[in-house]
Amino acid sequence: MSVPLLNGSGCLDALTAPSVARQFDAFVTKTITPLPREGNPPPRIAETEHGMLNSIGLQGPGIETFIATVLPEIAALGIPLWVSVGGFSATDFTEICERLDDQKAVDTIELNLSCPNIDEAPEAAAELVAAARAATSKKLFAKLSPATSNIAESARAVVAAGADGLTLVNTIRGLALDPRTLRPKLARAAGGYSGPALKPVALACVFACAEAVEVPIVGLGGVQTGGDALELVAAGASVVALGTVLFTDPSAPTRIRAELVAEAGRHGFPQASDARGVARKTAELQRF
Ligand SMILES: Cc1cc2nc3c(=O)[nH]c(=O)nc-3n(C[C@H](O)[C@H](O)[C@H](O)COP(=O)(O)O)c2cc1C
Repeated sequence: MSVPLLNGSGCLDALTAPSVARQFDAFVTKTITPLPREGNPPPRIAETEHGMLNSIGLQGPGIETFIATVLPEIAALGIPLWVSVGGFSATDFTEICERLDDQKAVDTIELNLSCPNIDEAPEAAAELVAAARAATSKKLFAKLSPATSNIAESARAVVAAGADGLTLVNTIRGLALDPRTLRPKLARAAGGYSGPALKPVALACVFACAEAVEVPIVGLGGVQTGGDALELVAAGASVVALGTVLFTDPSAPTRIRAELVAEAGRHGFPQASDARGVARKTAELQRF
């Protein structure tokens, strides 16, 4: 089996770049919140040596406008659709999931559990997943932040609460200073750090969670090449997503898909999916 490729939420606008979206096996929307949000003031994106910082701040039209105007347009592209949802309370997650439940175009709901003001402790994350689970029969993927002391514990908690899969990982908090002024490059100072530097963090999270739970894992964080994607699969991912790389390479999905197949072959795997979990099969690994 081939390894499905998705985009990372917030890293691709399918309506302005449909030709990029069509290279994926499914399209993931930017996180939708209950009410419209303007997001944070600019500058909201900054480059750093090994990745990118963003503080977009969940800008979006809100669930009502999304369902009325955006969803039909995205559905018309004919790509399987994942909707990323976020909120600030369990009630928010219930409300949005209820609204999406009867939308035929929506294949999967991804719960962004790393929203501002959201408590990311395992019990709190599980509460949000349980709220979503009670509101919809759609497939639910829980997207976790890597900034937690024990991600395996969070994985077990959200799966027990009804998540059908995990998306690992969201960005990690970072700060970039302008070397001339020694002031933050982003208006909100700190932001979410993504790109190549995140790969080892994502690998550690996928590795730990694949051991803790049986559900499918979407691996993302710093993927630039098919080799990077294969490493996430080896750590335990069954799907790979591309984020920051899409800002510089619109042909990344097609390129990385081809590289992934070639790289898997080079390692002796007939299919890339045959490499799933091999990093964990090495005998006597030091547990961490
Ligand atoms: C500009 C930007 C916007 C993002 N917006 C969202 C979002 O709305 N919801 C979400 O769950 N993740 C969001 N992310 C995180 C990505 O989906 C992904 O988890 C992260 O960037 C790590 O992958 P990467 O290193 O390949 O970029 C955003 C990332 C970037 C760079």
